[in-house]
Parts: sequence; structure tokens; C-alpha cells
Amino acid sequence: MEGRSQWGTRAGFIMAAVGSAVGLGNIWRFPYVAYENGGGAFFIPYLFALLTAGIPILIMEFTIGHKYRGSAPLSFFRMKGKKAEWIGWWGIFVSFVISTYYAVIIAWAMKYTIYSFNLSWGSDTEGFLFGSVLNIADNPGEVGGFVPGVLWPLLLVWALTFVILLAGVKRGIELANRIFIPTLIVVFLLVVIRAVTLDGAVLGLEAFFKPDLSKLTSPTVWVAAYGHIFFSLSIAFAIMITYSSYLPKKSDITNNAFITGFANSGFELLAGIGIFAALGFMASQANVAVSEVASAGVGLAFVVFPQIINEIPGMNGIFGALFFLSLVLAGLTSLISICETYVAGLQDKFNISRTKSVIIGAGLATICSLLFATRGGLYFLDAADYFINQFGVAAIGLIEVILIAWVFRKLGVFEAHANEISDMRVGMLWKICLTVITPLVLGYMMIELLRINIMKLHDTDTGTYEGYPAEFIMAGGWSVAIFALVAAIIFTFFKWNKTTA
Ligand code: PHE
Ligand code: NA
Repeated sequence: MEGRSQWGTRAGFIMAAVGSAVGLGNIWRFPYVAYENGGGAFFIPYLFALLTAGIPILIMEFTIGHKYRGSAPLSFFRMKGKKAEWIGWWGIFVSFVISTYYAVIIAWAMKYTIYSFNLSWGSDTEGFLFGSVLNIADNPGEVGGFVPGVLWPLLLVWALTFVILLAGVKRGIELANRIFIPTLIVVFLLVVIRAVTLDGAVLGLEAFFKPDLSKLTSPTVWVAAYGHIFFSLSIAFAIMITYSSYLPKKSDITNNAFITGFANSGFELLAGIGIFAALGFMASQANVAVSEVASAGVGLAFVVFPQIINEIPGMNGIFGALFFLSLVLAGLTSLISICETYVAGLQDKFNISRTKSVIIGAGLATICSLLFATRGGLYFLDAADYFINQFGVAAIGLIEVILIAWVFRKLGVFEAHANEISDMRVGMLWKICLTVITPLVLGYMMIELLRINIMKLHDTDTGTYEGYPAEFIMAGGWSVAIFALVAAIIFTFFKWNKTTA
């Protein structure tokens, strides 16, 4: 086996970590989560979650990767044998599932970048998305045929990903991030500057920042902040452990974690300003309240934004192209990072070359992602996304901190390791965050989520998630989340190749 890869420079690692963290979530998720959960007042739970869970876990994961120098399963195996290894695989299988549909969203964004130039979506942007672009099936659960207009860009996304992954950690991942991240910052700044100079932008910013302090007493707001921080910082996905395993011996872990955390939050804040300025413009054009146009996710990016772009006076095609290009760039750098988790894991466990591991791992992901390029794809994507996030990322985060802090009792060792190489020292406060605060908040969150979702499966009044039929929720949602855990346990049973472990 070739020697272990390493980042070329410190800036290269930070770009890659920030590239992973800054994703679609920053652009289309954060602004809406903040708006829904108290606006300006949301910054209190958000900062609390960032400082008590986000950055402490980032420091912990950077330490794990740096100390054990392995993919997530290998690092956990070196920490506590097979009793720990499965957590690494769980993160990897969750990442695998996410990569299969994340690639599809990037493919749509690529198409929309091109559509922007002549505003191909016309005035009925919703009909255009679901009809002309996705040709969506009538019922959830129907697969239908391939949609060629999605299939081809999807294959292009995978081709790019293959090229970058095959070129290696330094010459592939690091180089791609060094190009994409600065470009993303420039492109997105242009979008935000244009957005805040639109008529009515102030209305949107007022709606976004207006603090609703009464929300602070509601537990769901705090849970939303924690859930968002996990997703947004790419923690508990196996990603940050994998990336930090390529750090050189001399690396300042604590500092890197703070830079990554704050850069991600800075980008989120910028996105909140840009998105709400644009929504304020749209609301004032249509003479409605901002609350009527505010939304998130696929609807915001591919239905509402095209409408906004239609209305912008002057050079609106360019504005649109820059907006969708930001989604492509933010998405690609995150996609590369999730794929790297399984590329590294397969390579370590079965002692195969990086090339083989990319072909097998990303190859399988490509094949699975084809499901989302069918006429029924969007329903599957929606259900898989919801369940894998709730019962993947958050659940892994909870179990990871409980095992490390309470069962394996490794925090003391990690503290010493991090402090030895970092300028800024962690101590009591860091340990309290990981042993008490994070497990309490996440534990509460998990129990509530399970209660609500199990109840929803039976209770016909509240309805299932998105009102989908229960069988579809079982097949497209629950079973996907359960698959990740079962596959992780199976992979843990396989023998380690002697030379790696
Ligand atoms: N941190 C990413 C975001 O905010 C989430 C993500 C990372 C998703 C990596 C997939 C892969 O969008
Ligand atoms: Na993020």
C-alpha cells in the first residue's frame, strides 16, 4: 500500500474543511431555520450550540483523526477495537446515502446555472421545475423511467468527482478546494451585494433580524439550533475525522477548529442576509409580507429564486447564473468530502489502492444515485434526506459523545493530545460541554424525534412526514436510516487487513 496521504499546506486543510462545512445547508437551510426560530433572537441558541457542541466536537474529531491517523472506522478501531469501529462505519454509510442524492441536487443547480442566462423557466417556475425539468411522477413510491435531462448532468457531477478523488488528497481534493472556495466567496459576495441593493431589501432584512425573544423559552428552538450546527459543521458524518487524518504531525488542532467553525458561521450569516434581502425585494414587488415568500430547500432555490430573478431589473440572467453557480461550488466541495469518507474507509479496511477504492465506492454511489434521476426521484430524495439526517447525523453525534466521554473515557487523553500541539488549550469547559451539555440536549432531541415520528406513523390526524403514505415512509425513509446502521455492523464484522490495523 502507498504511504498515507497528507495535505500539502495548512491553508489547504482549512480550505477543505471549510469546503465541506459550507454547503447547500448554509445557503438554503440556515436562513430559514434562523427566521423560523426567532430571527435575531435565534443567534443566542445558535451561538450557544456552536460554542458548546459544534466547536468542541470539531476539536474532538480533529484530535481523533490526527491522533489515530486513519479513516473513521480505523481511527475508532485504534481507539477501542471493534466496540468502537462500528460508529465509524455508521458515519460512512450515512455519508454514502447522502452522497447519492446530494449529487443530484448539484446536477439540478448546474442546469439552472445555464437556464439563468435566458430565464428558461418562464413565469410558472413551479410548473417548470416539476414538469419540464423533473417530469415528476404522480405518486410517491412510483419510480417511472429515467429523466434524461437530470441523468446527464448527474453523470457529469460524478465524472468531476471521480477526477478529483482519483487525483488524490493533495493534488485532487486540496487543489479543487483551493480553486472552488475562493471562487465561491467572490461569486457569492457578488450575489449578496446585488441582493442588498434591490428595492425592498430592507424589508427582508428586518424580517430576518427582528428578534422574537419569546421563542427563546421554547425547547424546539434550542433543538433546532443544535440540529443545524451538526449538519452545518459536517460533524458526526465521519468527514472531519477523515480529513484530519491527513494532517501533518505538527498541526494546531484547536485553532483549525475555531477557524473552520467561524468561517462556516460567517458564510451562513452572509447567506441569511443575501437570501432575505432578495425575499424582501420579491415581497415588496408582489406587495405581500415577507413571511408569505420565505421558504427553504428545493422550493426556495428552484421555485422562488427563479421568480426573484425574473423580477430583477438589469443583468438578471447573470445574477441568476452566479446564484446557481454558488450552489454548484458549495455543493461540490461538500460532495467530495462525503465521498472521501468511504474512499478512505474501504482503502484502510481492505488494503486496496486509492484508485480501486474510488472506483468501487464512488462507483456504487453513482449507481445508487440513478434512482434519484427517475420520475419518482424527488419523493425518494425528500424521504431519504429527512430520515437520514434525523436518525443518522444527530443519532451518531449523540452516541459518539456518550461512548467517548462516558464509556471509553477518552476525553483526558484527547485533551492532552490536542494541548500538546495547539496554541490554545482546552480544559474543563471543553470536557463539560462534551460530557454533560451536548448529551443532554441531543438526548432530549432524539427522544422527541423518535416520539414524534413513531406517533406520526400511526396517528392519522397529524399525518405522516409530508403526508406521504406510511408504506412509503417505511420503505424510503426508515429503512434507509436503518440500512446505514445495519451495514455498519456488518462491515465491523469483516476482518481487518493485517497491514493496516
Ligand atoms: N455541512 C454541509 C452543509 O452545510 C452539509 C453536508 C456536508 C452535506 C457534507 C453533505 C456533505 O450543507
Ligand atoms: Na454548513
